[in-house]
Amino acid sequence: MNTMKLNQSLVSNCENSVAKELKGRLINVTSPVLPPLEEFIPMLEDIWESKWLTNNGKYHQEFEKALADYLGVPYISIFSNGTLALITALQCFKITGEVITTPYSFVASSHALHWNGIEPVFADIDPVSLNLDPNKIEAAITSKTTAIMPVHVYGNPCDVKAIQNIADTYGLKVIYDAAHAFSVDVNGDSVLNYGDISILSFHATKVFNTIEGGAIICRDEATKKRIDYLKNFGFAGETKVIGPGINAKMNELQAAYGLLQLKSIDISIDKRRNVTKLYKTLLRDVKGISFLEDIEGVKHNYSYFPIFVDEKEYGKTRDELYEELKRHNIFGRRYFYPLISQFPTYSGLPSASADNLQVAEAITKQVICLPIYPDIEIDIVKYIVSVIKSRL
Ligand SMILES: Cc1ncc(COP(=O)(O)O)c(C=O)c1O
Repeated sequence: MNTMKLNQSLVSNCENSVAKELKGRLINVTSPVLPPLEEFIPMLEDIWESKWLTNNGKYHQEFEKALADYLGVPYISIFSNGTLALITALQCFKITGEVITTPYSFVASSHALHWNGIEPVFADIDPVSLNLDPNKIEAAITSKTTAIMPVHVYGNPCDVKAIQNIADTYGLKVIYDAAHAFSVDVNGDSVLNYGDISILSFHATKVFNTIEGGAIICRDEATKKRIDYLKNFGFAGETKVIGPGINAKMNELQAAYGLLQLKSIDISIDKRRNVTKLYKTLLRDVKGISFLEDIEGVKHNYSYFPIFVDEKEYGKTRDELYEELKRHNIFGRRYFYPLISQFPTYSGLPSASADNLQVAEAITKQVICLPIYPDIEIDIVKYIVSVIKSRL
């Protein structure tokens, strides 16, 4: 038997045995980590006893403190979700006019601008990091530009120094959508400590979840105070309202749940690192499939495992592979497809033209995020890879 035939037979053996075992089970792109129920119940009993359900209760305060310590950030304000955190972050600095941002992100990034009456101005992404390309920012600046809003896509840090240089030169604020960047460090410092403000998402699909949830990280006490007012309708006392606030408070049940989640987050990230390593080992020599490499000096959180399909080399399009995986009950996600700039809300903007966004337009056609979560079985990872390989 030649090597190719042997490989194919190993692949189909693996496929058959795991497929049999799966018996219709779905392999989703992620599976949330939940805290031990037996540890959560006494907290719930405590909340039931106190009847303090929301509005800066005991667990809210404790969770904020624990998060600031864990993340190594000076000030944090927890939110009911990441989108409201982002909308509030922009309100907090009264950002107006135009904001330069990336089209290669989850749609909430630009929606937060839209909800503030701000025009997103899309600039292209860097072909290696897939984050907003600092070399494309200056050309997008106009007299209406007030801020840059980059996204640390998949938790990979943006070129924070280059972006800050441009912001300093032109007098712009930097608002990071760091929804994916929980526990990511650059040279020992949290990536959340860059720019004027960062937001996190604690949605069920994220590395760290409070079911729904989010946070704003800021640099000084006065800003933290203003954010705390803004997330509570703008109330700065019983009768004083400092501005058009919103209701974006996290409740006590989620704050207690979040406190428990902090206990297992490092183990979860370690397990994700191992899964990533395994995927990379198994996929490294597959023609037409590429992936992102770790960056030196960065502590990654391995929140996603995106692969990129070069249809000429691989012999099939991204969508053909995506459908093939689905036929095997493997539900990857095409994050981020379509580009934000391709949705009707934004597609008419001058900056949304395909010509302006050539790298993003190419990447969005190639990406599939493969299933990754801390307890994904080794056999399932092997099975997923065998399906990718068997179509060659
Ligand atoms: C990049 C990005 N920004 C913002 C959000 C919004 O966060 P949330 O779902 O917590 O509102 C998400 C994800 O959900 C996201 O992936």
